[in-house]
Amino acid sequence: GYELARAARDMGANVTLVSGPSNLAVPMGVECIRIQSAQDMFEVISSKQNEMDFIIKSAAVGDYRVKEMASEKIKKKGDTLTLELVKNPDILAYLGAHKPKHQIICGFAMETQDLIANATEKLVKKNCDMIVANNLRTEGAGFGTDTNVVTFIHPDHIDTLEQMSKYELGRKILHTLLQKQERILEC
Ligand code: C5P
Repeated sequence: GYELARAARDMGANVTLVSGPSNLAVPMGVECIRIQSAQDMFEVISSKQNEMDFIIKSAAVGDYRVKEMASEKIKKKGDTLTLELVKNPDILAYLGAHKPKHQIICGFAMETQDLIANATEKLVKKNCDMIVANNLRTEGAGFGTDTNVVTFIHPDHIDTLEQMSKYELGRKILHTLLQKQERILEC
């Protein structure tokens, strides 16, 4: 997300980065809105959706949250502890369902199996223009690396890319999304 924001800034975009807690430096010139929870992220992004030409949802949002947050430290009792979880709002699915006509939405998909099939299903279900899919088991992909190895999932074809830096990938994603926008504006 941070490298995408940097790449978009370098390409001349006005960028808003919505970020959970992170030690990464916010690229200069990028507006950063700090959030704590998936619910916060949902509220910020849904309220800003109509101002955006492009939305790229690279955050790995937790699917569930604890039902009740303890106000004090939880005292040790038995050998096991059960926490009840409830579903978080699916922000990308909401954005896809409320997409303005000329907006381009790009999601991410991280899988450990059936990458293409699962990511393609996500593209359709969440009404995205593109999904950037990566396999967490591939070396040089995913979290904690400066590189990524991804496949772009389009509505009618897929495009598998070589390993590259996250910045370089950010530029590729943005160029691809710009081409999609040009095609929509031509219609
Ligand atoms: O369904 P899955 O979580 O695998 O989809 C991943 C995509 O959905 C990512 O783009 C992620 O940012 C987005 N997502 C979301 N809200 C959630 C869960 C995932 O926007 N609660």
